[in-house]
Amino acid sequence: MTMLRNKIGLVDKIEALPPFPAVATRIVTACENANLCAEGIASIISEDPALAARILRVANSPFYGAAGKITQISRAVVRLGTIAVRNLVIGMCTNDAFGASRESVSSHGVLWRHSVASAVAAETIAVRVGFKPAEEAFLAGLLHDIGQLAIAKIVPADFERILAAASGSADLLAVERSVINTDHTKLGVRILSRWGLPAALCDITGDHHDATDAVIGGDRRLLAITMLADIYAELMGFGLDIQSNRANSLAQTSQYLGLSPSDERTILGTLAQRTDEAFAMFEAGGRATPDCTATNKRAVWIATDAADNRIGLLLLEQLGYETQIVAPDALSAETANGAILFIALNEGDESLATAERIARDVRGPVVRLDDTDSGRRRHDGAARVFTIPRVFSLFDVAWIEERLNHEHRPDRR
Ligand SMILES: [Fe+2]
Ligand SMILES: [Fe+2]
Repeated sequence: MTMLRNKIGLVDKIEALPPFPAVATRIVTACENANLCAEGIASIISEDPALAARILRVANSPFYGAAGKITQISRAVVRLGTIAVRNLVIGMCTNDAFGASRESVSSHGVLWRHSVASAVAAETIAVRVGFKPAEEAFLAGLLHDIGQLAIAKIVPADFERILAAASGSADLLAVERSVINTDHTKLGVRILSRWGLPAALCDITGDHHDATDAVIGGDRRLLAITMLADIYAELMGFGLDIQSNRANSLAQTSQYLGLSPSDERTILGTLAQRTDEAFAMFEAGGRATPDCTATNKRAVWIATDAADNRIGLLLLEQLGYETQIVAPDALSAETANGAILFIALNEGDESLATAERIARDVRGPVVRLDDTDSGRRRHDGAARVFTIPRVFSLFDVAWIEERLNHEHRPDRR
């Protein structure tokens, strides 16, 4: 009964939200009309002074590397491009309807920043894999979790309950269904179709948790880009720390899109560098990811093949670690001295016994990358073994650093 009431309440509240602003609808439609020039879009925007002011502010923001101040809306549209203008307008409407305030450090604020970071990641991936127009990917990334934003905004207490239950669970959508009797992908489709946004965008929002071959395969590159962007944003700490097993969908989408190691490095680097600018653009507040500020920044990556789980290695580099790849039989106490050891071996080789033996031999902290426990972190302080997901995030590294900071290193030597 409670569940039924919740469902009706939430869906009713979504139906009762103000409609997509008319000016925004006209801009979305105008952008689908190839014959409409920037001048035409600019004249629609000019009818709404508040919107025009926001567009001008963005056109002059560092995100667009602006040289020389622009004061005319028509020049702003030319500088940004019509698709980017459309994305901004939709992003602003999303922010007005479901965004969090600039100061918000709540999970809702974190989620809005996750959406913006996913947008930056999606556009970067699109550029790397030659998907055109790349701005389309920006919008898909920005809106993929609009259903979650709606839950956080409309029923915040239920949202917190979902988060508490979802941590370490393999299936966020199942948790959502158990609390609100629907899930954020279904709510997202409802919101976007109510707003009259293109069906392709609704489908991406609806399918972005479905990492099956049938869904990713076929001609669904934009979906794969969005799914991958979602993971990259989480890896870099832009998101809620819901510990989940991302290994399968990362492998599937990266392979499907044919990403090279240099693409992966670029995407992580772009996220680190450009997300703050995008946050400012969408009034999403500060970065608010946990600090990774350990003084000991050396990681030894124990692997037989450098390609094994390379995303983890790239993330460590991005977090300022000096990294070194060492074959298991070449590991010496000297190499390990002062470093955190990551065991990145093939499945089965990274057993707890192996980790404990290595930790004992080299007397250093050892990190075991594990797929089997839906991403739950564990720390055996006596053996100095940490267990984190195979595809780990900045949150996992920050968690390890925090525990190492509390150790009395001289006693351990
Ligand atoms: Fe999602
Ligand atoms: Fe997401």
